[in-house]
Amino acid sequence: MTSSPHGTALVTGASSGIGAAYAAALARRGHDLILVARDRARLADAAARLSGETGIRVEILPADLTLGADRDAVSRRLAADAAIRLLVNAAGLGPSGPALGGAPERYDAMVALNVVALQHLTLAAAEAFAARGGGTIVNLGSVVALVPERFNAPYVATKAYVLALTQALASEVGGKGVRFQAVLPGITRTEIFERAGADLSGIPAAMIMEADDLVRAALAGLDAGELVTIPSLPEAADWQAFEAARLRLAPNLSHKRPAARYGSTAAA
Ligand SMILES: NC(=O)c1ccc[n+]([C@@H]2O[C@H](COP(=O)([O-])OP(=O)(O)OC[C@H]3O[C@@H](n4cnc5c(N)ncnc54)[C@H](OP(=O)(O)O)[C@@H]3O)[C@@H](O)[C@H]2O)c1
Repeated sequence: MTSSPHGTALVTGASSGIGAAYAAALARRGHDLILVARDRARLADAAARLSGETGIRVEILPADLTLGADRDAVSRRLAADAAIRLLVNAAGLGPSGPALGGAPERYDAMVALNVVALQHLTLAAAEAFAARGGGTIVNLGSVVALVPERFNAPYVATKAYVLALTQALASEVGGKGVRFQAVLPGITRTEIFERAGADLSGIPAAMIMEADDLVRAALAGLDAGELVTIPSLPEAADWQAFEAARLRLAPNLSHKRPAARYGSTAAA
């Protein structure tokens, strides 16, 4: 069997939900795949099914990305395997319970996965893709980064991190042939809710997207060259206006003197 002309995609979180939907969609596009998650049996099932349906090559790379050794093994693979041209960071954990009322340590695994592991893999891939002259990195954020008032604080903060990291890296290394995309799903029907001890029954059906639809839209956004894709948002112009307003602040975000409304600060 020869390698795919589309290159290999490494997908984290490929055992369920959005990552599994990416694996299926990318297989249909002809990418060979490396599937990463903890559940070896589910990855093996997906690999057999996808290679059987599409004829692509699928390898599984079981890893607990909250563990440094596993995470670093995946980073090394990104660095060493010149066939890899696409990284999809879809592994993620949702919050259980409100921000207050428990030990802060209960959020450590979420931060280790949503932030630390995602950053390690993103930097490893960006370094490798820049050296090879091309590659694409897709990071799963969330719309909650845009409405932090509406959701669990530590989870929202991990997703704001993903958005900022992706935008900043696109600016820093985009010129080296590395493409970035932050995908900001709204509520999507996956296992993330039951894993966090929650359920979707109280949420209006009109607000819940299916994972396959989410991924189809995200890949259309990628094909269109979007840096940030918000599959639910009807008008792209609304996001563009939001970004334009943010960037209009830039010339005034660092001055020698505080703004006049904060009073005189002239040194005595
Ligand atoms: N669903 C939504 O409404 C929604 C909305 C906005 C953003 N998102 C984001 O979308 C991404 C995908 O979430 P999802 O909804 O598809 O959730 P999901 O169905 O629960 O899938 C999460 C994936 O992450 C993997 N994973 C969990 N812990 C891991 C670990 N320690 N090491 C390696 N892999 C691990 C899981 O596989 P194993 O258990 O086999 O390891 C699974 O494949 C996440 O970043 C999430 O924050 C989801």
